Amino acid sequence: MAVNRVGDRRAFRVAPSLLSADFAEIRAQIELVERAGADYLHIDVMDGRFVPNITWGPKIVKDMRRLSPLPFDVHLMIVEPERYVDDFIAAGANIVTVHWEATVHAHRLVQQIKASGARAGLSVNPATSLSVLDEILPYVDLLLVMSVNPGFGGQSYIPTSTAKIAEARRTINTRALDVEIEVDGGVHLDNVADVARAGADTVVMGAGIYGTKDPAATIRRVRELCAR
Ligand code: DX5
Ligand code: ZN
Repeated sequence: MAVNRVGDRRAFRVAPSLLSADFAEIRAQIELVERAGADYLHIDVMDGRFVPNITWGPKIVKDMRRLSPLPFDVHLMIVEPERYVDDFIAAGANIVTVHWEATVHAHRLVQQIKASGARAGLSVNPATSLSVLDEILPYVDLLLVMSVNPGFGGQSYIPTSTAKIAEARRTINTRALDVEIEVDGGVHLDNVADVARAGADTVVMGAGIYGTKDPAATIRRVRELCAR
């Protein structure tokens, strides 16, 4: 099954979030999910301003690039992301997702990401309606629906997110857009099938993978539960 190709929308994808990995063992933690068939590595960049937490900058992304051939799915939870997208792409990001709430000129920024050679993702917080994306949606490669308030791993899935995912799926299908739907936050074995059924192409899982006893077995189980 060809699931690793960026942009292959027929595939269901699993994107382990390194936020819940043991940073002191990052090489082993990456190899673990890679061997188990992860499709992307989800890398959460936080600035202590857009969200309360602080994580990684471009240097560590560049260094981790040597550890894995998997697509790097970089989720920027930072204000003024336009100042940093080129640095993350130069560091090896394959997908760069910015928040609609964090930038004034989303259209310009999406073009900037694509022109720099990455796929462009746009994310919305739980409080943001999909309706604000009507104009920008045809320009993005990926829509990231946040199913928790961004900033921390291990939070609970917000139940109304399922209807939002379904709405995103309906809109994208009706308008025949080529946009991947990714869902991020609180996804575990007990709700991942619902998330996939609602219309997610890709699920981000942090605690739901790295917090389990056997992360590799968890990834395999996710695939079984979400087989298309
Ligand atoms: C949250 C991050 C997520 C986080 C998800 O702000 O964007 O990617 O790692 O973690 P879980 O799956 O544990 O909710
Ligand atoms: Zn994320």
